[in-house]
Amino acid sequence: MRKQIAAANWKMNLNLPQATSLVADICSTPIDLEENQRVIFAVPFPYLVSINQMIETRDKFLTAAQNCSDKKSGAYTGEVSAEMLHSINVGYCIVGHSERREYFGETNFVLREKINQCLDHDICPIFCCGEALPVRERGGQNELVELQLNESLFHLKADQLTKIIIAYEPVWAIGTGKTATATQAQEMHAYIRWLLKNQYGESAAELVPILYGGSVKAGNAKELFDCDDVDGGLVGGASLVPADFIKIIRSLKF
Ligand code: PGA
Repeated sequence: MRKQIAAANWKMNLNLPQATSLVADICSTPIDLEENQRVIFAVPFPYLVSINQMIETRDKFLTAAQNCSDKKSGAYTGEVSAEMLHSINVGYCIVGHSERREYFGETNFVLREKINQCLDHDICPIFCCGEALPVRERGGQNELVELQLNESLFHLKADQLTKIIIAYEPVWAIGTGKTATATQAQEMHAYIRWLLKNQYGESAAELVPILYGGSVKAGNAKELFDCDDVDGGLVGGASLVPADFIKIIRSLKF
């Protein structure tokens, strides 16, 4: 059965006391998760070890890094490798968030290397794709997302593909309060799954969770997550408010 995931993307927010207090609030709330449901906290690098300790007793709560290097190791000052993440028990890593593409010039080809590094070190990449507003306005979103998948993912073998998570995040919906409608999200998710099916066959395509991201809120999560091909969300702003994020987790479908 495909995993259903609520993933918090904190971005560059919160100091350590704020971060631990947020996680403590969430951990002290009883949240029933089904066998296939997971909660992932994508937190800044310096907090990974502490947050991992805090969630140790919650078996379906996990941590993710927000980025990793495209290189294995060596003289790359300031970089963090997938191997380092694995060595501190981090099992997930966001790859190719639109902010990394836009502000740090990450190309589809660099992201392909990051995907490889993650898979080489048993880290599950959460690969982000999605179009900016001008592309949506001219109806080019399918073509753009196909190119992103082609250039960063489609070199993988089927058994590797089933170890990744895809997050569709239309750039025009990120941090803007402008959410894609459930219909727009489902259309793109179904298209992504169709592309995966074409490339890898039905059984592999059916196993890949596809998350929606872009202004997911407590009030719209259920409608989005109820769509057939939406397997949860990658949540920025609303994941910083415990009550909101808890409501979003509870919106995962069974
Ligand atoms: P948002 O961010 O929920 O604040 O729009 C989502 C993301 O960037 O992953």
